[in-house]
Amino acid sequence: MTKVVAIVNQKGGVGKTTTAINLASGLALSERKSLLLDLDPQSNSTRGLGYGADPERASIYDVLLGSEPLHGILLPTEIEKLSLAPSEPDLIGFEVELMGTEKREWRLRDALIGHDSFDLVLVDCPPSLGLLTVNALVAADGVLIPVQCEYLALEGVTQLIETLRRIRSNLNPQLQILGVVLTMFDERTNLSHQVVDDIRKFFGGTAYDTVIPRSVRLGEAPSFGKPIFLYDPRSKGAEAYMRLAQEFLQREEPPVQETAIGDREETAGICEAGDRPASAQETAINEHEETSTG
Ligand SMILES: Nc1ncnc2c1ncn2[C@@H]1O[C@H](COP(=O)(O)OP(=O)(O)OP(=O)(O)O)[C@@H](O)[C@H]1O
Ligand SMILES: [Mg+2]
Repeated sequence: MTKVVAIVNQKGGVGKTTTAINLASGLALSERKSLLLDLDPQSNSTRGLGYGADPERASIYDVLLGSEPLHGILLPTEIEKLSLAPSEPDLIGFEVELMGTEKREWRLRDALIGHDSFDLVLVDCPPSLGLLTVNALVAADGVLIPVQCEYLALEGVTQLIETLRRIRSNLNPQLQILGVVLTMFDERTNLSHQVVDDIRKFFGGTAYDTVIPRSVRLGEAPSFGKPIFLYDPRSKGAEAYMRLAQEFLQREEPPVQETAIGDREETAGICEAGDRPASAQETAINEHEETSTG
């Protein structure tokens, strides 16, 4: 079954696109048929996978407006099992053009129907909680939240959690927080270490053990149109994103025989999203739902 993952944080420049490109690539190199869906009018994922601007090329904008099916816009990438659904800057008009139309939050979910050949669809969201991000959250099984290891790292997170809670109670009850990715960690600074401690305290076990280091090579790779694994496979950024891909798969694909013997919880934290010990936030979301529905 296809798992749809929205990569979300309304704060700008926290590593959403870098994570989308390199996690999707790591998953594809791990033999999972993957789709990176660029849902940001900045088109950074599209450029970062080597596609320059081309106003003639059909993009996710055409899919959301219903003039192209999703399979009609898919592009190959240099990684065999990774496809790209590109974006173009005209996507910025989506919100205004759909104002007042019915079911406008469901456009992406509807477009993904029938695309079961992918194991994973990663959606790179824009830095806002507007209609595009809402479309991603309605279409998604879960969200992945990149958080930058910098001053004010948790700024806006309460608002994000509140948005997720609202989407869960009104539009998509299955939405899970799959994990929090700590990005741009600089091991030389006390601040980075302090921020990691704060984020882990706040999110509990939801934060991945893997921390993405700040690395010049990760910053350079998109300007060559390549994921880090093709730009500098031996860099520490490549190593970190491959470790993240493995940790992601461990969480999302628990070994079958453990399900059969029914003792998943005891197997080193490898359990389905729904069974995972709830983070402070998920507990908060659940509690709220219980009070609002009961
Ligand atoms: N681990 C890293 N080490 C060094 N540079 C990084 C790292 N992660 C991201 N960057 C750089 O930081 C900038 C912001 O990263 P990125 O584009 O991934 O963030 P974003 O959250 O997608 O931004 P936006 O909100 O604008 O979409 C980019 O120039 C990117 O190349
Ligand atoms: Mg981005």
